[in-house]
Amino acid sequence: MTTIRTLTGDETLAVLPDLCEILSDCVNGGASVGFMLPFVPADASPYWQGVAQAVDHGDTIHVVADVDGRTVGTVQIGLASKPNQPHRGDLMKLLVHRSARGLGLSRKLMTQVEAEAAKRGRTLLVLDTATGSEAEAIYPRFGWERVGVIPDYALFPDGAYCGTTFFYKRIGTTA
Ligand SMILES: CC(C)(COP(=O)(O)OP(=O)(O)OC[C@H]1O[C@@H](n2cnc3c(N)ncnc32)[C@H](O)[C@@H]1OP(=O)(O)O)[C@@H](O)C(=O)NCCC(=O)NCCS
Repeated sequence: MTTIRTLTGDETLAVLPDLCEILSDCVNGGASVGFMLPFVPADASPYWQGVAQAVDHGDTIHVVADVDGRTVGTVQIGLASKPNQPHRGDLMKLLVHRSARGLGLSRKLMTQVEAEAAKRGRTLLVLDTATGSEAEAIYPRFGWERVGVIPDYALFPDGAYCGTTFFYKRIGTTA
């Protein structure tokens, strides 16, 4: 059974071991998501503790996907706090464990997190992702507009340069 949930900070901490497994699995699978090899689940713990705090402070929306009681997917939207950008959100860390890919979880996660952002008055979302990755191919299917590529923007976990593709999506408005 699949469940999509929007978590509080405490609920994020309650699934910390699963979240650490997901992030470690993605990094070890070659995803350029901010971390370098070697990377084990315990290395992810400080990151997720920070996410829990950000959720508690109202700075981040955190949505997860559970399959048969185990959290296997996660996505966040950072709520931009600058006074001149109250309408913008930053989509971050759409991650699905390799054992649960191809089941439609990313579409469900994106649908819920975008709806949550719209409820909070956000009308514009932005994201960046590794050029040439599966994720880059998937976002247009969810209605995101490709803006362009910055070459050599970041590194893959093994240290190779990685281009970054930027996307945006208008939500909660017909504009
Ligand atoms: C990107 C990622 C989250 C996709 O997760 P997923 O749950 O396997 O994706 P889904 O099963 O929901 O598939 C989403 C859609 O993309 C399609 N799709 C899947 N793989 C695809 C590919 N390689 N190319 C094009 N489309 C693809 C699916 O058919 C589906 O489309 P549909 O909903 O219209 O049928 C997953 O591959 C992942 O975690 N990658 C590593 C981390 C990463 O790079 N995250 C992005 C950070 S910005």
